[in-house]
Amino acid sequence: MAHASPLTTDGLVQILFGSSAFQMLRAGSDLGLFTLLHRRPCLTPPEIGRELDLAERPVQILLLGTTALGLTVRQGDGYENADVLNGLFAEGTWEIIEDLVEYEERIVRPAEVDFTASLRENTNVGLRRIKGTGEDLYHRLSADPELEQLFYRCMRSWSRLSNPVLVEKADLTGVRHVLDVGGGDGVNAIALAQANPGVEFTVLDLPGTVEIARKKIAEHGLSDRISVRATDIFADTYPTDHDCVLFANQLVIWSPEENIRLLRKAHAALPDGGRVLVFNAMSDDSGDGPLYAALDNVYFATLPAASSTIYRWGQYEEWFAAAGFVKPERLPGGRWTPHGVISAVK
Ligand SMILES: C[S@@+](CC[C@H](N)C(=O)[O-])C[C@H]1O[C@@H](n2cnc3c(N)ncnc32)[C@H](O)[C@@H]1O
Repeated sequence: MAHASPLTTDGLVQILFGSSAFQMLRAGSDLGLFTLLHRRPCLTPPEIGRELDLAERPVQILLLGTTALGLTVRQGDGYENADVLNGLFAEGTWEIIEDLVEYEERIVRPAEVDFTASLRENTNVGLRRIKGTGEDLYHRLSADPELEQLFYRCMRSWSRLSNPVLVEKADLTGVRHVLDVGGGDGVNAIALAQANPGVEFTVLDLPGTVEIARKKIAEHGLSDRISVRATDIFADTYPTDHDCVLFANQLVIWSPEENIRLLRKAHAALPDGGRVLVFNAMSDDSGDGPLYAALDNVYFATLPAASSTIYRWGQYEEWFAAAGFVKPERLPGGRWTPHGVISAVK
């Protein structure tokens, strides 16, 4: 089934000026327009100018853009946020969106100019925009402490945006100890530990990252149930005292061959009946959507590692079988991001 509705000329305008549309979102976020209209809906342009300390001309430019894009709505002489934005403020997600805007601006945008070259050369050419000599984004971040801090703060926000799906779909009934492979700053282990009081977790990640995780876990008072271990997830063997292995936002980074290698390592570490859970954005088996996966793929194709991409659901089933797992089960998240869980059993 085709996803997209037929292209209109307005749709073509949005694509042609796509980065300008993003700049309207970014300016409205950075200048505080959306937060202002959340606190005080229905302000006139002069009131907005006074509150944001902007002259008449920039207020006109900003409101023309945000309103034409549907981010703000005009009511008589005043302006208010679109319902979608009001919903994000109401559920406490707006601060996450602001981090994502910063991530897109400071990490994705400088590299995405290399998208065409990345397709041509079938590798992440955009990595050249990041300082250092590491062969993937994660191994380069330690060369730039300021970028590293920004990256992990924003990665946490990307994960907080989508991990309610993981918490809802990952059934940890009967599970004793989860191994979170490449668990970053522990954001998912923390959320799962809070939702599953009897379960313990071990987070594996690179040495610098597990130190960030250790602090976050302590801040949440969970150091007694979540431990961390500096590990190279390809080179080192995994501990065997776990009955569930989680790959969260991990198998989008590597090639199919590398993913099968990681899944085989998980299989070797699990007891019979142990479970593997994969959580990340998925693309449809039809290969033509959803739009979120299609556009987020510019980042994946350009920056993290040589073969990163948002894979189709069916590809995980093939890799599970190749690694010896059975009973694959798809658990789509059903939210506005295409995140879902796919699980299997040893
Ligand atoms: C996209 S992030 C996902 C982090 C976390 N699972 C989440 O969902 O927020 C990928 C993680 O894999 C880690 N990683 C990449 N290569 C690794 C390696 N060879 N060994 C251990 N960790 C690695 C990175 O440091 C990073 O924290």
